[in-house]
Amino acid sequence: MIDPRLESASTLSARYYTDAAVLEEENRRIFARTWQLAGRSEQVAEAGQFFTTTIAEEPVLVVRGNDGELRALSNVCRHRAGPVATGEGKRPVLQCGYHGWTYSLDGRLARTPEFDGVRDFDREHCALPRFQAAEWNELVFVNLDPRAESLRDFLGTLLDDMPRHDYRGFRLAHRKAWELDCNWKVYVDNYLEGYHIPIVHPGLFRELDYANYRTEVKRTYSIQFAPTKKAERIRTSGGDDEVRYFWIFPNLMLNVYPDNFSTNLILPLGHGRTLTLFDWYFKDPSAVKREIDETVQFSDEIQVEDIEICETVQRGLRSSTYDTGRYSPKRENGVHHFHCMYQELMGLVASPTARRP
Ligand code: FES
Ligand SMILES: [Fe+2]
Repeated sequence: MIDPRLESASTLSARYYTDAAVLEEENRRIFARTWQLAGRSEQVAEAGQFFTTTIAEEPVLVVRGNDGELRALSNVCRHRAGPVATGEGKRPVLQCGYHGWTYSLDGRLARTPEFDGVRDFDREHCALPRFQAAEWNELVFVNLDPRAESLRDFLGTLLDDMPRHDYRGFRLAHRKAWELDCNWKVYVDNYLEGYHIPIVHPGLFRELDYANYRTEVKRTYSIQFAPTKKAERIRTSGGDDEVRYFWIFPNLMLNVYPDNFSTNLILPLGHGRTLTLFDWYFKDPSAVKREIDETVQFSDEIQVEDIEICETVQRGLRSSTYDTGRYSPKRENGVHHFHCMYQELMGLVASPTARRP
């Protein structure tokens, strides 16, 4: 499939972007096996605080126990698959929204109303199945795969590659959700290269030192280094700063600035439909409203430009005349890196670096 040598490689075949059956396989092999951004630490700061989400079509409940431990539990009641929790909030026990069974915060079954007379009922085995959960940088991550490496190991050297900004205590300042008519990988591919900036983003191009824009690929993530020149709309700490755009396999982006950071979470809604969830974090959001507005407005302009090109590309990928293209060795190493990781997890190549046999 994809040649590991960038200079010789051709891009991922169009059918991976247009075939509805591929998404099911991606859920099983990629989204259910990788660390997924699930929520924020502030949502589960205290015992009993919880939030619910869905990862790879799996209903998940993240809750802080009385013992202080953060757990990701199945949000599927052991009775008849009802919702153990809905939305987010704080509760001393979790009560299913169907027939009212209750579970303690660590997932053990507590009460089963009107169940007298039932025979051979093994309550111990009715605990909610548990997934991996971990926190980093005020963010909560979940991995459905019990055998997956820890979040810390997965992120690896990312911690050293982050600029030395202290983001402790940062709070969600703004959220924006966009739905796009394209496959999730079209959006990720597009994020992973600066090659399109001169053509698609003239406003952004004016602020960047494009000649020195570069991408470094690591084991599980890549970094785009974007030096600025005369940054007027990009938030820098003044002068000719450098902005870093991180991408963490497979669907998370982390845009790092001196006084704020933002996450872009890319979620497939269907094989041709994608949700991009943008969250901005600032230290004291109420004190910097104008800065937040300006940041969001500039991001909106860029996002509108990206949406238009991504939706057009999706239509192009459906063309009977197109299957695959080539990578610019100078500008598209990040896209190539994603495609190589993708085909490895999808089992499209036998790789000696595969994490499990
Ligand atoms: S499904 Fe939960 S109590 Fe019935
Ligand atoms: Fe773009």
